[in-house]
Parts: sequence; structure tokens; C-alpha cells
Amino acid sequence: MTSSTIAITRSASPLPDDQRETILDNPGFGKYFTDHMVQIKWTVDRGWHEAELVPYGPITMDPATNSIHYGQSIFEGLKAYRRVDGSIATFRPLENARRFQRSAARLAMPGLPEELFIEAIETLVTVDQEWVPDDIEKSLYLRPFMFSTEVGLGVRPANEYLFLLIASPAGAYFPGGVKPVDVWLSKEYVRAAPGGTGEAKCAGNYAASLLAQAQAIANQCDQVVWLDAIERYWIEEMGGMNLYFVHGSGDSARITTPPLTGSLLPGVTRESLLQVAQDLGYAVGQERINVDQWREGNASGDITEVFACGTAAVITPVGKVKSTDATWEVGAGQSGPVTLQLRDELLQIQHGSRPDPHGWMHQIVAPTA
Ligand code: COI
Repeated sequence: MTSSTIAITRSASPLPDDQRETILDNPGFGKYFTDHMVQIKWTVDRGWHEAELVPYGPITMDPATNSIHYGQSIFEGLKAYRRVDGSIATFRPLENARRFQRSAARLAMPGLPEELFIEAIETLVTVDQEWVPDDIEKSLYLRPFMFSTEVGLGVRPANEYLFLLIASPAGAYFPGGVKPVDVWLSKEYVRAAPGGTGEAKCAGNYAASLLAQAQAIANQCDQVVWLDAIERYWIEEMGGMNLYFVHGSGDSARITTPPLTGSLLPGVTRESLLQVAQDLGYAVGQERINVDQWREGNASGDITEVFACGTAAVITPVGKVKSTDATWEVGAGQSGPVTLQLRDELLQIQHGSRPDPHGWMHQIVAPTA
């Protein structure tokens, strides 16, 4: 299948402008969806075929569809931004296309060609461009996903899959916006073990996180922090986001993030921030950090700020850390200056009010004259 083969069937009843504008005023996260979606089928005989943009709507599934039972289901998340020159662009979509292929490979699913992934995004964003909000704190969240559609209960890689792309206007991911979150260090549950699926963006990783997240909330925290599966000592991630540590302050601050050991998700925002921080003149490093080093670093003042990053919430400061045997504050429990500077820099690049020296923005709709 070549690109430019996505057939377009427009909705006969798109949401009226005034109702869409009301949603865009206060979209929340993942609550409202645009007028269309893209779907592409895969079968073992035909490969990828029937690529279509169609009106957004429910899909019907046989109760024995095997992804419901055995979880061959992967997804991605990226955003389209309305920029200061009136253009619309997405951020590093090729990175998402590549990670989607790696996730597919890990779950024994077929890889969607990168150009088809990008074309699906370009097609949906172009047709539903009125849904891209005009505000630096808002964007159109794009959710590509794929699951097996073969009917049958045999445990083996399926012979049929469906790729779907849906879009949802997004404001702040966390209800408090950029307010610091309190985190719970989970020693009872792990997110990922060596050789497991931690590097893949698969549905099961998120299902398996929910009980630990519920424990975090039961301990008056907002989010769970994952430790490594073997020693339960090395810091890995926070919820569905990567973590960053700021050592020192001012121009001499050094910014570190745990290395990708195989059990962490290789976040596009994580990777981009290593570069943005360097561009701003900070020293950066990918360094392991354990629970004691985190606590002692905050006590001695070496660690001044900690934040989590991901596509959905961008950058979220960490305010307080709790575990079964200790509780401590990060900095003064406030959003730190380096955290806020990095957040601002990334958002400004994405929204076109700062230069894009690495060519990260992928324009989909041309600037207004
Ligand atoms: C992200 O940080 O973008 C995520 O992966 C969270 C998402 C599952 C809502």
C-alpha cells in the first residue's frame, strides 16, 4: 500500500461550531473527540489495506475478539499545535511512528509503515483542523492505536489487526495544571521487569499500573513512582511519565534523568528535554539514582527540583515524596525555576514563538497569510 491512499468520507453531521468552541474553551483531557477518525486494516493475506478517514463513531467487536482477552494492543500519544503564525504542526511524529513499530514488534504485531502513520496524522489533522485550540496551554491530542481483531481464543499472534487514529482537544492533563504532585514510592508493585514490556507502549502496562496508582492515592499522593523490579531501589518512572532531577541551581544546574535500561519507556519528551536543557546551557546526564540518593540529595540541597515529563502533561513538578519508611519534600515543595524554564521553552518551540533549531516541528497546515 502506498501513501496518499487514505480515502476520505466526511461526516454528514459534524459538531456545530458553537458547540465545538464551547468544548475548546475548557477541553480537559481525553473527554471529547473530533468529528473524524482514520482506520486501516491489516490481515495476514493482504497486509495493510482499506485506509480510510471516516466519521468518528463506535466500533463493534465479537466477544471472542482476541485482543480483549490476551491484550495485543498498543498505542501512541502526540499533539498538534496551533502556532503563532496560524500554522498547525505536530512535534517529532516520526519518533512516535518508530516507537509504534517497536511496540508492535514486542507484542508480535505487524509494523505500520512510518509514512502511513504520518499520513494518517496529516489527514486527520487537516480535516479536523478547526479542533486545534489556539492557546499555549492547549493542543489537539492525537491517539494512534492498534489491536488484534481476529476472533478466537487460541493464544498466538493474531492474523488480523485494526489501526485507528482518534483526536481529542486537550488542556491540562492533571486537574491542578502545573501544580506540584506528591508521589508514592511503590515497593510492593513494579511497572516493568528486565525482558518484559516496559519499553513498549502497550495497553497492559497501563492496566498493571492502576493498583499501585490506587495505593498512591490511598496514601494521600497524586502519582506512583516506580522502582526497578530486582532491587526495588533504583528510580525508574512516575506513573506514565519519565522523571528528571535538577542538581544545583542557576547557570550551574545539572539536569539528569534515569538511563533507558530496557524497562523504562523511551519518552519523546524525555529525549527532547535532554537537548533543550543542553541548548539552554545546562549540563545534562543520564544517570541512575536510587531512593537513598534522592532523599539525601534533597536533604543536602544537591537536588533542588524534580519533575516528570510526557506528551500529555508536558512537565509536572514533584513536590513531596512518600514511601512506607520516609517522607520528604523536594525543594520547598514548589515548582522550581529550571522546571518552569524548560516547560516554557518546550511549549514555545511547539507553539512557534521560539526557534526550532532541530527541525522538530512537522507542519501540517500552512501559516495564515
Ligand atoms: C503521556 O505522558 O503522554 C502518557 O503516556 C500518558 C497517557 C497515557 C495519557
